[in-house]
Amino acid sequence: MIRAKFVLAAVAAWVAAPAWAQAPNLDHSDYTRADVEAGQRLYSVQCQICHGANGDNIQGIDLKFGKFRRVSNDEDIVRTLTTGIPGVGMPAFSFQPPQLTAIVAFIRAGFDPTSAAVRVGNMERGRALFDGKAQCATCHRVNGRGPLTAPDLSDIGSLRTLGTLQRTMLEPPASLQPIHRPVRIVTRSGETLRGRRLNEDTSTVQLIDDHEQLRSFVKADLKQYAIETVATMPSYKDRLSADETADLVAYLISLKGL
Ligand code: HEC
Ligand code: HEC
Repeated sequence: MIRAKFVLAAVAAWVAAPAWAQAPNLDHSDYTRADVEAGQRLYSVQCQICHGANGDNIQGIDLKFGKFRRVSNDEDIVRTLTTGIPGVGMPAFSFQPPQLTAIVAFIRAGFDPTSAAVRVGNMERGRALFDGKAQCATCHRVNGRGPLTAPDLSDIGSLRTLGTLQRTMLEPPASLQPIHRPVRIVTRSGETLRGRRLNEDTSTVQLIDDHEQLRSFVKADLKQYAIETVATMPSYKDRLSADETADLVAYLISLKGL
């Protein structure tokens, strides 16, 4: 009987949730600073008593660092706040949509009003975009599938922050990791090739060339060795909507190795 009630409550919240989802923020800055600040005020009054000033009072959950037990995307957080989690002590709140947005913004900004809050969308939709329409998989490898011409992203979710992942898609050159800079090589025999470095020391360099072949060179044997600064990762700023970007961010942070 109690269980049935909970299911009903969950369905009601699910129906209510799209009101928030229907008004997507098309600005890539996602949440505004005003959202984050409003969220901070709500958090200190409504949540801090249980979750603590740093968001890590409850075992297994660290709101500030985005560590959760059940939720993964922003819609999940909204749903959790609206329905509560029956039986475990997380109460249901009756917040208005702008208040829900504000609290999620504060959590996604890592509790820091001076930091940008990145929206985290739906992981499954992000995966579909990655493999399909956005064509990320034509360059990147994930969990053993895909080409080697661009960096392997299998554990990118444990290496980069939300902000860095989002920036990489919207303005790639700004976040180009030095090791990822493409190199251009001309060998003594006159062969010219471009590639991506896997390793480099003072005298040798190992790279994956445009044909996905692993090549190793002694630098002293090369006629030319240039490190380019232009990113080959295309910018998706005008190609993805804010919702699609949020979905891809959700997929990328879920990649934490096998
Ligand atoms: C009365 C104590 C209490 C208050 C107040 C409270 N929470 Fe919780 N919350 C909990 C408990 C306990 C859990 C853990 C449930 C579990 O997973 O066992 C939880 C879980 C959550 C989760 C899910 C985390 C996950 O791992 O999936 C989120 C998100 C959350 N709370 C956010 C908030 C926010 C934001 C507020 C303020 C609006 C808030 N809570 C207020 C006790 C509270
Ligand atoms: C044309 C090939 C190509 C496509 C398509 C492409 N990328 Fe990239 N990506 C690269 C290359 C090459 C790099 C390495 C940096 C550079 O050269 O710009 C990179 C870097 C990255 C990084 C940073 C890796 C790190 O270690 O920080 C991420 C994350 C990333 N890409 C995600 C994506 C996503 C998501 C998509 C689809 C929306 C995508 N890429 C589409 C080629 C591509």
